[in-house]
Amino acid sequence: MTTATDKENRFRRAASSALELVKDGQIVGLGSGSTVAYFVGLLAETIKRKSLEIQVIPSSMQIQIIVERFQIPQASPVSIPEIDVAFDGADQIDESYNMIKGRGGAIFKERVILHAAKTRAIIIGAEKFGKVLDKPVPVEVGVFARTYVELALRKLGGKPTLRLLDKGFPFLSENGAVILDTAFGVILQPKVLRQQISDITGVIEVGLFTDHLDALFIAEADGNVKRTIPVSSG
Ligand code: A5P
Repeated sequence: MTTATDKENRFRRAASSALELVKDGQIVGLGSGSTVAYFVGLLAETIKRKSLEIQVIPSSMQIQIIVERFQIPQASPVSIPEIDVAFDGADQIDESYNMIKGRGGAIFKERVILHAAKTRAIIIGAEKFGKVLDKPVPVEVGVFARTYVELALRKLGGKPTLRLLDKGFPFLSENGAVILDTAFGVILQPKVLRQQISDITGVIEVGLFTDHLDALFIAEADGNVKRTIPVSSG
């Protein structure tokens, strides 16, 4: 299990580099997951130290609770079109900067925030960066359409598994929807697959992200950071 201290040792430099993108007066979008949770603590420190006037828009209850704890001012969703910079983690990134996201089930809001942001920054551990995407794709599905979508995903060549909590209850997303973690093996055409899945009626959001990124911060195992400026993705 990764402890807060492991995360701190490993990600401090990557998160600090990413923080250089934050400027006074900005609206900052926040993704979800343990990396963003850690990033929010550093952001709070920076806001205090530099007396910055920053407002954030969190993508999940998980991050909102941390934002509240640090008393960081929040902007309402009305300000989403004005997001200057967004920070997020990812579950896997390929060499064309396509991503699989959604282990936390906040796919819908994460996508809205990343899309709206003028600058999109991702922070990951080096083990998540590879040649191709091959992890299961989280597909967020309205409860009513669960079996219908499951069948459609199988027709696309996927192997969907309903995400469950430890005690067997279904995991519910931020939207009260279920998640079908769907294995496709190696994903050769992420953009095409994303579109095919999105086209299935009943699908709310797909955890395949194929849009342009502006900055990728890779935390190496020894705590060093590699900053990459992706030229394109998709
Ligand atoms: C949340 O729904 C996800 O997209 C996360 O951004 C992703 O799972 C990465 O999480 P960690 O930062 O915890 O690895």
